[in-house]
Amino acid sequence: MYTSLVNVADYAKASKNKLSSEVWDYVEGGAGRDWSVENNRNAFDKYKVMPRILNNVEGINVETIIFGRKISAPIIFAPTSPLKLFHEDAEVAVVKVSSRVNTVAICSTDSHFDLEHLSQMSDNNLWFQLYCYGCKENAESLIDRAQNANYNALVVTVDAFFPPRRERMMRNHFKLPGDVKMGNLTQPMLDGLPRRGDGSPIRHALTWQDITWIKEQSRIPVILKGIMHKDDAIKAADLGVDGIVVSNHGGRQLDQMPAPIDCLQDISLAIGRDVEIFMDGGITNGIDVIKALALGAKAVLVGRPYIYGLSVQGQRGVEEIYNILKCELEDACAQLGISSISNVNSTTLSII
Ligand code: FNR
Repeated sequence: MYTSLVNVADYAKASKNKLSSEVWDYVEGGAGRDWSVENNRNAFDKYKVMPRILNNVEGINVETIIFGRKISAPIIFAPTSPLKLFHEDAEVAVVKVSSRVNTVAICSTDSHFDLEHLSQMSDNNLWFQLYCYGCKENAESLIDRAQNANYNALVVTVDAFFPPRRERMMRNHFKLPGDVKMGNLTQPMLDGLPRRGDGSPIRHALTWQDITWIKEQSRIPVILKGIMHKDDAIKAADLGVDGIVVSNHGGRQLDQMPAPIDCLQDISLAIGRDVEIFMDGGITNGIDVIKALALGAKAVLVGRPYIYGLSVQGQRGVEEIYNILKCELEDACAQLGISSISNVNSTTLSII
């Protein structure tokens, strides 16, 4: 029935047809006039890849090792809750696929399903994404719970403390439906949360001191998600974080920002290999992944692409999206004369 869906763009079209226009605007839109969202994608077109010939590429290996664990390709599921808007299996579908295909899924604090439930759905590599709501005790409790439930890393999102001005959502007067829960927040936590006029809970605006504190609480690697400026990346590295995600939140927080792919090389040259570097924003095919790796990323996160899959075909759609991206990546490696993904480097990009 869906054999005509051969790439992420096909899934995006099918997803648009399936979702209500309000929900489509919620996933697809960004801050302001969506310029950052479009720029994130278009920026990839500036970079071209250059094939090398006569290398032996009979066995292509795109596996990579992150924090000591092997994953099947440098493609990670970004935290994108609340997913209940798109399919009733929501985050469970993503976690199950990550386990089946052996990659990382990052579970958001804003998940409909709680982190303990999600960890039972996977025998694999889950990371927990932290938003701090209310007091420090809430953050401490979430960090403890994530560690006790065997999450392997803590991803602290540092670019989304304030509600963004998303014009498409404002025009639609978009509100989350009542059946979308914040499964990770217990009733006492929810009761005590400071709230905005519209009833939405207020996120605590973190500072560098808080990151030091979070590092002290954590026995697992800490990754900061949402770094765009080289000097912030250096500061994060100096504080001893284990990883950073070069990201502008998929263009959802602020309009008129540079694209993460354009910030990547500067950052990777500045902080070297001591800190694992990830990037996200605008990845829609396997060649984009090659470009991100060539500019210094260890792996990429994808958000919207797998939401398209989820909304069209549930868990199967999420897996299809992963397989499409991985096949495109393997194909790109073969065509470029690269047998192992670890051999992608700046010379993979064309200077012409
Ligand atoms: C997000 N993103 C996000 N990030 C985060 O740290 N916690 C979250 O709960 C969410 N929620 C969320 C919901 C939706 C609907 C989207 C589209 C995105 C941002 C996400 O992790 C990632 O940074 C971007 O989605 C990457 O850009 P692409 O791949 O969507 O272009």
